[in-house]
Amino acid sequence: MNEARPLKPPMRGSVPCVNITTAGGTAINLRNLTVRFDVLNRPPVLAVDNVSLSIRAGEFVSLVGPSGCGKTTILNLLTGLLPVTYEGEVTIAGRKPTAGNPDIAYMLARDSLLPWRTALGNAAYGLEIRNVPQAEREAHARELLEKVGLGAFCDAYPKALSHGMRQRCALARTFCLGSPVFLMDEPFGALDAQTKLQLEDVLMDLWSAEQRTVLFVTHDLAEAVALSDRVVVMSARPGRIVADVPINLPRPRSVRALQKSDDFHHLYAELWGLLEQGSLER
Ligand SMILES: Nc1ncnc2c1ncn2[C@@H]1O[C@H](COP(=O)(O)OP(=O)(O)OP(=O)(O)O)[C@@H](O)[C@H]1O
Ligand SMILES: [Mg+2]
Repeated sequence: MNEARPLKPPMRGSVPCVNITTAGGTAINLRNLTVRFDVLNRPPVLAVDNVSLSIRAGEFVSLVGPSGCGKTTILNLLTGLLPVTYEGEVTIAGRKPTAGNPDIAYMLARDSLLPWRTALGNAAYGLEIRNVPQAEREAHARELLEKVGLGAFCDAYPKALSHGMRQRCALARTFCLGSPVFLMDEPFGALDAQTKLQLEDVLMDLWSAEQRTVLFVTHDLAEAVALSDRVVVMSARPGRIVADVPINLPRPRSVRALQKSDDFHHLYAELWGLLEQGSLER
């Protein structure tokens, strides 16, 4: 029985914002999910094998596992963008996945900013599509650009921003949407170590303030431990869940400060062992 309650974002003016009163309900529910891809002239690829995972509203959960174990497949399926039939049950914000679901914001490793729009125009783009009036969407986008440290670059075009700045702009665009559920696929995967730590702290600040539900895919175990309430470890393909590890480090957290914590390093070592074990499973 799926207990998910619909997570409709309320509005701040015309700008949607997260309804934290829904915290504790189920935001994402996968039950016995199996995904196979048909491949021309070859047997189908079994990508995801009998995965069950339930994520509460407001939780930050990371998904880690070897390359090809089905992490992106799961995120794509949740967005409703994957034209594939699956076995099992999938609900997100109380509904079956559908393309264009406003309850979901999806952030990828590449920033995919529009080169002909300024940082402000990019950050406000999602709200423009949702018909939020110009003054209001720009005020909200400006506020978020300030929070990610790009307040002085609102008028800059992507070509004038560094990679880390572009990814910060993408983070502002994602938060600007006000969607209660965030799906993030290695959003900081291509950044240098220092910029990554900075952006992880920015993400923690934004998330702590607004408590969105986050399903975060990463290959970086330190990142997974530092950010998450739980880390879910998958096996090598076909992807199955081999461990679901609670991260009981106190919050609020500073990702940079955690690098010196013994508890952090113990969790990292535990996850590393589980990941290695899962990588060997077939
Ligand atoms: N559209 C598709 N058609 C056929 N096979 C696919 C398709 N998409 C993914 N696959 C296969 O499904 C498996 C899982 O792919 P997926 O991209 O989900 O892995 P991943 O865990 O995200 O890997 P990575 O960490 O490298 O990003 C892989 O074997 C991949 O080849
Ligand atoms: Mg992937």
